[in-house]
Amino acid sequence: MELGIDLGTTRTIVAVHDRGNYPIVGFTQMDGDLVEHYPTITAEVGGKLVHGLDAEVAEREGAPSLRSWKRLLAHTRQDEKIRIGTVEVAPLDLVTGFLESLRRDLLERSNVAKVLEEPLETVISVPANAHSTQRFVTLDAFRRAGFTVRAVINEPSAAGIEYAHRHKNTLSSKREHVLVYDLGGGTFDAALVYIAAGHHDIAATTGVAQLGGDDFDAQLCAMALEKANKTFPLSPQAKADLLRECRAAKESIHPNTKRVVLDLEGLGDEAPSEAIVIPVAEFYERTRPLVLQTLDALEPLILALREEETKSGDIAGIYMVGGATGLPVVPRVVKERFGRRVHRSPHPAAATAMGCAILASSEETHGLVLSERFSRHFGVFREADQGKACIFDPVFSKGTPMPSGGTTPLTATRRYRAAHNVGHFRFVESAYVDDQGDPTGDLTPHAEILFPFAADLQPGTLHALPIDRLAGEGPLIEERYEVDAAGVIAVTITNLDRGQGARFVL
Ligand SMILES: Nc1ncnc2c1ncn2[C@@H]1O[C@H](COP(=O)(O)OP(=O)(O)OP(=O)(O)O)[C@@H](O)[C@H]1O
Ligand SMILES: [Mg+2]
Repeated sequence: MELGIDLGTTRTIVAVHDRGNYPIVGFTQMDGDLVEHYPTITAEVGGKLVHGLDAEVAEREGAPSLRSWKRLLAHTRQDEKIRIGTVEVAPLDLVTGFLESLRRDLLERSNVAKVLEEPLETVISVPANAHSTQRFVTLDAFRRAGFTVRAVINEPSAAGIEYAHRHKNTLSSKREHVLVYDLGGGTFDAALVYIAAGHHDIAATTGVAQLGGDDFDAQLCAMALEKANKTFPLSPQAKADLLRECRAAKESIHPNTKRVVLDLEGLGDEAPSEAIVIPVAEFYERTRPLVLQTLDALEPLILALREEETKSGDIAGIYMVGGATGLPVVPRVVKERFGRRVHRSPHPAAATAMGCAILASSEETHGLVLSERFSRHFGVFREADQGKACIFDPVFSKGTPMPSGGTTPLTATRRYRAAHNVGHFRFVESAYVDDQGDPTGDLTPHAEILFPFAADLQPGTLHALPIDRLAGEGPLIEERYEVDAAGVIAVTITNLDRGQGARFVL
């Protein structure tokens, strides 16, 4: 029984492969109710971290907690610590701890506990614009927690697989393309997926790393506090309570809902004597810009889709997934722009996990092949002009096809004579590059690496050294980049003259 796991910002969803079906796993809460998700939350109790179902209970009882920590993975370095209550934890340890709890609860508190067998063969997903470190941390954490990871795929690609599976009888035999629109709790992801028999090609992906349902909750919370004439700052506990109330209120909005009523009990003694009433139209007005932001982000994919449209004329449409598409204003604004081609998934929050489970099973059964592409440019800044300047070298450009599982890694090699005593490499990913080839827009820095070029340097002392030009000809240096099927990039830097090198996972 293979698994598909979507580690979501707010909800982690597990789907299993069970004789051609892909049901969602239910977990038993403390009160005995079954929920079809595992809450992505961590809390501190007595100096220890608890996760998932236990953390949700602890938070309600007043324990310090952290929700949506997946958002932090997008911009936290591996060596930075995340604080939860009195505990400081490295990102990898946090994710590992959470996944260990998930694994334990899958085997003990889920509705598949009796039939699951180890090893847990799993396909996992990451946001389309997750950078190499985030992919690495996610993959490594799953492995440390005891899952056997078969593949790591982009979230919208997984949803595209689920779409193709759902419509396999109605999709024409020709290639079709579907634009996946995934608005989750914390991120917006989109992908243009070309579907042909047995093959999915991800033509382009895009996303906004920090945009999702959480932002709608925050807006509702801010509106309520404005109406109640309460200004921030609030205690962390009050904030958590208010956000929980606002999230629940937001999730209960239906197309016919006229107003949202909030008690703001989280404010304790400061709570207003009468409930706060917010007209839904006002809330929509306020959050419309968030939806428009997703449409702006889609623009490059729309252009690509239009080009294809004129070529082939067969469009499967826009497939909306992600829990946050449950707020009626979201599909409404998207439909205003794209009309009847917009379809909302019958399982918006589960499509990604189901897609992962389909891929997990199909590697053996249907031989489905998935080809992903780089969603951003990856490159390196190197020293120039005695450390006064940097030159950017784009190593893998956006759109480069990634290796699929089981094939040889993608590589790139650079060879040059070192000009300086120390190599100072700053690796980055960027959404765009300008005419000169320099990265612009949303930029993610990776590790910085110092590597000795001059003969007599000790690796530990490089930070303190001034960067100087070498007298005469420097040693021959090779940088060899390798990308695996999970999108994790590693570089091996070698001094070929001396035969010394080191490998770094970026
Ligand atoms: N009925 C609903 N109406 C409005 N919003 C909803 C509804 N149900 C869930 N949501 C919102 O959907 C979001 C969670 O969606 P989902 O489970 O797809 O995200 P995720 O996978 O946790 O996050 P991400 O994909 O960004 O990592 C939350 O913000 C939640 O409040
Ligand atoms: Mg999601």
